[in-house]
Amino acid sequence: MNSVDIINKKRLGFSLTKEEISYMVMGYVQGEIPDYQMSAFLMSICLKGMNDEEIFFLTDTMLHSGHILDTSFLGVHTVDKHSTGGVGDKTTLVVAPLVASTGVNVIKMSGRGLGFTGGTIDKLESIEGLRTYLTEEELRKQVEAIHVCIASGGKDLVLADKKMYALRDVTGTVESIPLIASSIMSKKIAAGSKKIVMDVKVGNGALMKTKKEAEELSKIMIQIGKRYGVVVECVLSSMDFPLGYAIGNGLEVKESIEALRGKFAPDFYELVLTLASQMVALGLEIPLEEAREKVVLNLENGQAYQTFLKLVENQHGNIEKVDLSNTTYDVFSEEEGYITSIDALHLAKISSKLGAGRENLNDEIDYGVGLWLFKKPGDFVKKGEALLRVYYRQKKIEQEEILKSYKIEQEKKEVSSILLGYVK
Ligand code: URA
Repeated sequence: MNSVDIINKKRLGFSLTKEEISYMVMGYVQGEIPDYQMSAFLMSICLKGMNDEEIFFLTDTMLHSGHILDTSFLGVHTVDKHSTGGVGDKTTLVVAPLVASTGVNVIKMSGRGLGFTGGTIDKLESIEGLRTYLTEEELRKQVEAIHVCIASGGKDLVLADKKMYALRDVTGTVESIPLIASSIMSKKIAAGSKKIVMDVKVGNGALMKTKKEAEELSKIMIQIGKRYGVVVECVLSSMDFPLGYAIGNGLEVKESIEALRGKFAPDFYELVLTLASQMVALGLEIPLEEAREKVVLNLENGQAYQTFLKLVENQHGNIEKVDLSNTTYDVFSEEEGYITSIDALHLAKISSKLGAGRENLNDEIDYGVGLWLFKKPGDFVKKGEALLRVYYRQKKIEQEEILKSYKIEQEKKEVSSILLGYVK
């Protein structure tokens, strides 16, 4: 077999065999295929796509490129959650302890942020001392004790994805449904998930720009799941505007703590309730309505927050010390009217420029910087009123640049629900 022949075959739109896919992926993992050939291969997949069979072979090869966790000790009342990535998406920090507080096991393997999307591991690491790497024995003990852990997958889980995702990020090959589906599903299956609720983001701050693309991705992930006996249910949610109030690692932890204590931005509340209810229904095998009642109750009676505190303590974090910069400035509206749009992608780039995001996997980030929105789409703003607060360290961003993210109009426009649909 020869890499150039395989690249050409895909470039011309032909289907690849299991052996050809394995040759490229494993060759790359073992360092026999160079970055430039893998980049061409990935680009040919972006341009020509893959059929269901090829996507399954790709997922399976990636899955077996590293270690596979044995989570059979967890039993049937176990559910995983995954988001395809968005701006201000701190949902896991609230949903995981909330679901766990109802007795469902949540063993959540998360990643770091790359490009404009944040990563749960970075957010958690803004809590002083918090350990995100746990051995399998530690994972088991923690889940047995408090039903939940949020950890990084370890270095050897789906080795192919680690290398390929970093390369995709710098070669314009992230936005491809076969590559996204295989990347996500190989990691979920390697982490031992048997039931997964996916939050598939749609909009300008998401990888899927349209609902149609999100539905296509969802259907493929559901099909892949079926091959492994894994139940996948997808919630489609809007990512045209940032989720909640905070963008940036420490700030998102602060917002999550407030939410777990009952103070939510409306869009964040709707999403948390939907995902958590679906996870509890799946985990406990009960009707959705009953699951929702449990979720609302445990948010209100403080059980969810208590579980979050136990998670932080078990993972050696100090909840009193969340990294937040104490140098801030506010950005004020130059006009009066209704906010009809906030550009999620633009604000994510600003937050990244402040130091909250990374361009390369090994870049250092600043946990304490970011943005806190005071206003959301649909809100009225007076001239001179503060729209948001910037948490910065050295680098300031011009007010003019930030204001480009906002559209303010005289007429109030209906803000559609964050929930766009379900695929099961
Ligand atoms: N998230 C992943 O884990 N992989 C992708 O390819 C895209 C988003």
